[in-house]
Amino acid sequence: MQVGSSTVTVIDTVLDVADAEADRLGFWAAQARRLDWDTDFTQVLDYTDAPFARWFADGRLNVAHNCIDRHVAAGHGDRIAIHWEGEPGDHRTISYADLQADVSRAANALTTLGLVAGDRVAIYLPMIPEAIIAMLACARLGVLHTVVFGGFAAHALRDRINDAAAKLVITSDGQYRRGVAAALKPAVDEALSTAPEESTVAHVLVVRRTGGDVAWTHDRDLWWHDVMATAAPQHTPEAFPAEQPLFLLYTSGTTGKPKGIVHTCGGYLTQAAYTHQVIFDLKPATDVFWCTADIGWVTGHTYAVYGPLSNGATQVIYEGTPEFPDQHRHFEIIEKYGVTIYYTAPTLIRTFMKWGAEVPDAHDLTSLRLLGSVGEPINPEAWRWYRQVIGADTLPVVDTWWQTETGAAMISPLPGIAAAKPGAAMTPLPGISAMIVDDDGNRIAPADGSAEPVTGYLVVDQPWPAMARGIWGDRQRFIDTYWSRFAEQGWYFAGDGARYDADGDIWVLGRVDDVMNVAGHRISTAEVESALVGHPAVAEAAVVGAADEQTGQRICAFVVVAKSYSDWSDVDDAIIGELRTRVAAEISPIAKPRMVHVVPELPKTRSGKIMRRLLRDVAEGRELGDTSTLVDPSVFEAIRTGR
Ligand code: WT7
Repeated sequence: MQVGSSTVTVIDTVLDVADAEADRLGFWAAQARRLDWDTDFTQVLDYTDAPFARWFADGRLNVAHNCIDRHVAAGHGDRIAIHWEGEPGDHRTISYADLQADVSRAANALTTLGLVAGDRVAIYLPMIPEAIIAMLACARLGVLHTVVFGGFAAHALRDRINDAAAKLVITSDGQYRRGVAAALKPAVDEALSTAPEESTVAHVLVVRRTGGDVAWTHDRDLWWHDVMATAAPQHTPEAFPAEQPLFLLYTSGTTGKPKGIVHTCGGYLTQAAYTHQVIFDLKPATDVFWCTADIGWVTGHTYAVYGPLSNGATQVIYEGTPEFPDQHRHFEIIEKYGVTIYYTAPTLIRTFMKWGAEVPDAHDLTSLRLLGSVGEPINPEAWRWYRQVIGADTLPVVDTWWQTETGAAMISPLPGIAAAKPGAAMTPLPGISAMIVDDDGNRIAPADGSAEPVTGYLVVDQPWPAMARGIWGDRQRFIDTYWSRFAEQGWYFAGDGARYDADGDIWVLGRVDDVMNVAGHRISTAEVESALVGHPAVAEAAVVGAADEQTGQRICAFVVVAKSYSDWSDVDDAIIGELRTRVAAEISPIAKPRMVHVVPELPKTRSGKIMRRLLRDVAEGRELGDTSTLVDPSVFEAIRTGR
């Protein structure tokens, strides 16, 4: 750690940074003591089956008890857990005591439906309190939830339900998006209608949100309010082993098949609670925390559910989009609830910049005392604007680097300790060991200012409590995907490129694999390609992420039209429209390619590998890089003069 002194005080916690380095396991054992353990653990880490770690394995705890009951027992039942604001302007105030009653009811209802520890439940809901209640009810029962982002289409939902072999789906009639009540349940009906005959889903629980008409499958579908009405508001949580799986969360990788990342109870909750407290300098009795991420993503899991609630914090949950009814919405919410800590994504910050400072300037934002950023590299310009305009030129800004697979934040400045720099994720948190290495695994030297800084691979070289415990149902894929690049050293390769500056601080530059990051959403090129080649007109497709000022990256597709279908040069716009719509319908509107270029051929190496680098050059309007390994360099003439 590059800090002035080795002992730093963050809130009431004294973090001995030197201790974290000298005795990492002792440090994490101390962090685990933030939680209530039903049975204490005697061993901190068992890494004999590396890379499958077991943390605090002989300890037992209940995650929902830690997020709710213990705060009520400590006399904080009246503290507000959630200020919920619906997009149309309705709101609900939920205290920790309310949450305890509702989660208990939901746990009893799920038990009545036959769910037992180890089962899987798919949650496909908008940002309404029931989403969090459902997650915690699962956690209380040792049932794994797999939350599927409400923006995903039926096809993507079906793949996740099937892979997880979920027994129950929890959804809503609809959701509010930009002022419109859009149906949600039809996607569940479609996903289940195309599921294999032996579908594992016995029931669909439906929350009434928009009041729209819903098609009903008798015996399978049940209203949430009906089952909750008859369920008792008391429930005694059972303690589970620390390594009991807590949830699956599907994320895109470099192939078309999403990976079900597995997280478990003790280690995940330890790091969620620890990072949420130290990174945000959280004072649970007085802060109002707002993480703007949807629970469909890991940020929403860790910093809109498990982190804040395990710390007994008060938080804001907002259902809708930032521009409804107008561009003032987020700032009105900050003002209305007195938000003190605001955590969002660079893509939204850049949108605010585009809208102009007069929007936030029209509001009293003086309640804010800390700002955070996550999801993609934040460009220095956006960082400065964020601090200056939203942060009155004084607030600390924390840029937090992490991933679905890391479970919780890994690299971030700590407020008040290391002075943050615009655009840098800075240093691994105390307890985390990460570094930047070259192809051969040699640590890259910090830039000395005389030459261009060298870019390398970001690796995590020591196990950490919230690390993924695997990919659901595919042990080998976990090893191959993350642990094979530096297998000899036993390091986790994150898939990101990064560099050190002259002070040895880390700047994360983004993915070096075929994973795109569009407005903080992770999408694989392979997933989009497989949706495109599913269209009868497409023989081949290559997708790249091109730099975009607003969204970080935008999706550009290059398609070769099937010979039987048409001559490539007279493909009309209708097909291009169809292709874009198809991707939106198969994956999600966020995966829709901004541009579809119809080309006679894809640029390939002699070994048949598509040269994405060159396609990225084309997409970003650059001069072509080295084309010497191309089979047929003239293919670019056609691509350029094409459409
Ligand atoms: C990828 C992980 C972390 C939760 C949200 C995304 C990129 C994330 C940063 C940051 C630069 C970042 C990386 C990473 N990323 N945070 N602060 N600076 N890049 O989770 O969907 O698993 O995506 O997001 O490329 O690998 P995810």
